[in-house]
Amino acid sequence: MAHKINNVNVNLKKINEEAYPRGVERRFAEFAPARPLIRETDAITADPVFVGRENDESKFVKQIIGEINDVFSVLPIVGMGGIGKTTLARRIFNHPRTETHFDERIWVCVSENFDVLTILKSILVSLKETSDIGDSRQHVMAKLREKLKDKRCLLVLDDLWNEKRGEWDDLKNALMGVNPNKGNVIIVTTRNESVASIVNPHNCNHKLEKLSEDDCWSIIKAKAFEGGDVPEHFQTIGKAIARQCRGSPLASKMMGAVLRGKEIDDWESIQKIGPSNIEGDENSVKAHLRSQKRKQVMYGHWSQKAVYHAKICQTSSTCVLWFYAKHE
Ligand SMILES: Nc1ncnc2c1ncn2[C@@H]1O[C@H](COP(=O)(O)OP(=O)(O)O)[C@@H](O)[C@H]1O
Ligand SMILES: [Mg+2]
Repeated sequence: MAHKINNVNVNLKKINEEAYPRGVERRFAEFAPARPLIRETDAITADPVFVGRENDESKFVKQIIGEINDVFSVLPIVGMGGIGKTTLARRIFNHPRTETHFDERIWVCVSENFDVLTILKSILVSLKETSDIGDSRQHVMAKLREKLKDKRCLLVLDDLWNEKRGEWDDLKNALMGVNPNKGNVIIVTTRNESVASIVNPHNCNHKLEKLSEDDCWSIIKAKAFEGGDVPEHFQTIGKAIARQCRGSPLASKMMGAVLRGKEIDDWESIQKIGPSNIEGDENSVKAHLRSQKRKQVMYGHWSQKAVYHAKICQTSSTCVLWFYAKHE
């Protein structure tokens, strides 16, 4: 073991000497987008591993298929990036009871580009409107009414950031004009509590809490061993790593991917090094990355992964998980 550590240190020294003149700094810079990248989501991608949120799922499904007296009932799912909002919304969307209850289920990934006409057009596209829709709002609305009149709808608006109440009202009024019957549901996912209170002023949002350590370990195991048996001697160290994921399914999933195929020594090194989790807006995340870059060198053959993590975490701007080794 001592010999191995010594080798790692020698390797790190070498990497450090080689990497900086060759532009590791530049590679980080490439992954520093001026604004967060938008990853479009969909309703179809399968989530084979789903843990710790079964109660949230059944509670939601019960609520949306129960008696609803509003034309559009709006249910926000709130929580930090990577906590599992999109995954939960997708599970609710694809639940068999949801499928049979609603005549139409529509998924729109909104992200930062909140534009009412664009959203209305996306709804038409997901209803398989194939003709050239054009940019006339009147035309789009007429088409929507044709498609949705008398249908009970579920609409998921994934990753909403817009805090302008007027624009939200505009969208909601448009939808109510299209389908004035009771019983429609909109599920909104958002990181922002004030967005949640705009779309549902009655404070009925559903805040997603962190997962338990056991759930994080389940995700790591599923990724690292792909459903196979976990050797006994990986259990203790694996659970310690799960603790370091601090309840984040995204962190657990990334950890599992990094650990896959690695020997127990590597697991121990990773656990010892630990993740660096910080929360904050994009500027503080970037400042953190800049200060870390000066002090540390990326970890041997995981250097690719380290860059990958830095990239992911800047994208979400809320959780930095970053493996490094101190240069000794
Ligand atoms: N309950 C869960 N069980 C297992 N994996 C999960 C769970 N929730 C989320 N994940 C995984 O974590 C990652 C981030 O989840 P996501 O739903 O995209 O988070 P958010 O929408 O809050 O940013 C995804 O890759 C997803 O597969
Ligand atoms: Mg999401």
